[in-house]
Amino acid sequence: MAVYPIAAAEDIPPGTFRIVQAEGRSIGVYNVKGEYYAVHNYCPHQGAELCKGPICGTTLESQVHEYIYGRDQEILRCPWHGWEFDLKTGKSLFSGKVRVRTYPVVVVQGTISLVIGAKEATHS
Ligand code: FES
Repeated sequence: MAVYPIAAAEDIPPGTFRIVQAEGRSIGVYNVKGEYYAVHNYCPHQGAELCKGPICGTTLESQVHEYIYGRDQEILRCPWHGWEFDLKTGKSLFSGKVRVRTYPVVVVQGTISLVIGAKEATHS
């Protein structure tokens, strides 16, 4: 397990992200409402640079003919074909079996670091 300092906390304010390189991997680090999450910059569908896609929300469960938007800034949409992933878990919104790899993020004394080699989620 290795810890990679990647930025000062103030350099990634809420609603923004940064793509970094660590251990030969391209990883997007996102500030979602004050919490940091990191995902592999590789879409499990056909390999697009996932982190070049928009950050958005999604429609929530609702009654028929009712559309309620929610979870703003928590969803990452692939720029190629629109698959959507939960930034907090890496899980796709359409299947519990499809996910993007995620990495733990720690913030110590104002420095954001990635933890690589810890128990990592994998995509299938
Ligand atoms: S490559 Fe990402 S949805 Fe197709």
